[in-house]
Amino acid sequence: MRFFNFFTQELAVDLGTANTLIIQNDKVVVDEPSIVAINRNTGEVIAVGNRAMMMHEKTHDNIKTIRPLKDGVIADFQAAEALIQGLINMIGEKRRFFTHLKMVICIPSGITEVEKRAVFDSADHVDSKETYLIHEPMAAALGIGLDVEEPVGNMVIDIGGGTTEIAVIALSGIVTDQSIRIAGDEFTNDIIDYMKRKHNLLIGERTAEQIKINVGSAIQDLQDPPPRYAVNGRDLLTGIPKQIFTTHIEVSEALDKSIAKIEEAVLKALEDTPPELSSDIFSKGIYLTGGGALLRGLDKRMSSKTKLKIHVAEDPLKAVVRGTGIALKNTERYSFLMDRKSI
Ligand SMILES: Nc1ncnc2c1ncn2[C@@H]1O[C@H](COP(=O)(O)OP(=O)(O)O)[C@@H](O)[C@H]1O
Ligand SMILES: [Mg+2]
Repeated sequence: MRFFNFFTQELAVDLGTANTLIIQNDKVVVDEPSIVAINRNTGEVIAVGNRAMMMHEKTHDNIKTIRPLKDGVIADFQAAEALIQGLINMIGEKRRFFTHLKMVICIPSGITEVEKRAVFDSADHVDSKETYLIHEPMAAALGIGLDVEEPVGNMVIDIGGGTTEIAVIALSGIVTDQSIRIAGDEFTNDIIDYMKRKHNLLIGERTAEQIKINVGSAIQDLQDPPPRYAVNGRDLLTGIPKQIFTTHIEVSEALDKSIAKIEEAVLKALEDTPPELSSDIFSKGIYLTGGGALLRGLDKRMSSKTKLKIHVAEDPLKAVVRGTGIALKNTERYSFLMDRKSI
């Protein structure tokens, strides 16, 4: 197919539990929540991404919203495929008959062989002729700008929506890898629970997420705390809509237990790391990516827990897709980092 080269479309896809991003020609052309809205009766896809998110928790009997990825695995393949297809369509480029579609898709590291095949199948269905899969921690490391080939250990922690992945990478391989199901979604649930307990206030997921982003914090004593934040919800006792104000201190209380569990997993991963690599991590520190890395004070809290330097990746929500984009541009050089299928 090489002689149709000028019709090649190359896409790097970060299929995340919370957000799916696509890079084309070095630019992020899609950045949308991983969610699909479906007509319950006909099974027809009504919307994907942001448009589907706006319907989330506001649906009626005929419409349901699905997040196809849950806890770092693909929970609903049909919906995942609809998501990929819908988001590729959003790029808007007219697909010509001879277009040679080449994709690198970043997948959660806990994915099974069966799930891998299903992702390849989904790629086939969107007519990809050359598909590569790369594991998330590797993509994150590339996106951060680490040299993954050198004989030096790097610890990368990706706090996404469904999972926190803690990996040590050296010599182009993933040396240790732990995944726990505590990440952004769990933080959001913690906030919902806290509002119930502390304020008798019932709030939805999206409101909780806004609280997390606007006044979220991992510690109480922030250098530059955000102003208090107005929260609207329903009073649990009276059933009437009401408003309260919350602060970063409350949110840090709400998130404390979940963050402690992530810290425990990090300590465990450090314990499991071969000593020569530990010494590299001691001198280089730990790299944080994923949306959770944006939580205020998380770097400070983790650094006092581990006594290590913590570096938050630049634009952590995009590190993985950036790395996937780098892999896409260098599929030959990085072939040993990826699984490949071409048709
Ligand atoms: N400023 C922020 N503070 C805390 N959490 C955030 C912030 N921005 C985004 N997040 C959270 O990050 C998570 C999404 O991160 P992302 O890396 O895109 O996940 P995934 O790779 O699983 O799709 C969501 O749970 C979102 O609420
Ligand atoms: Mg991710």
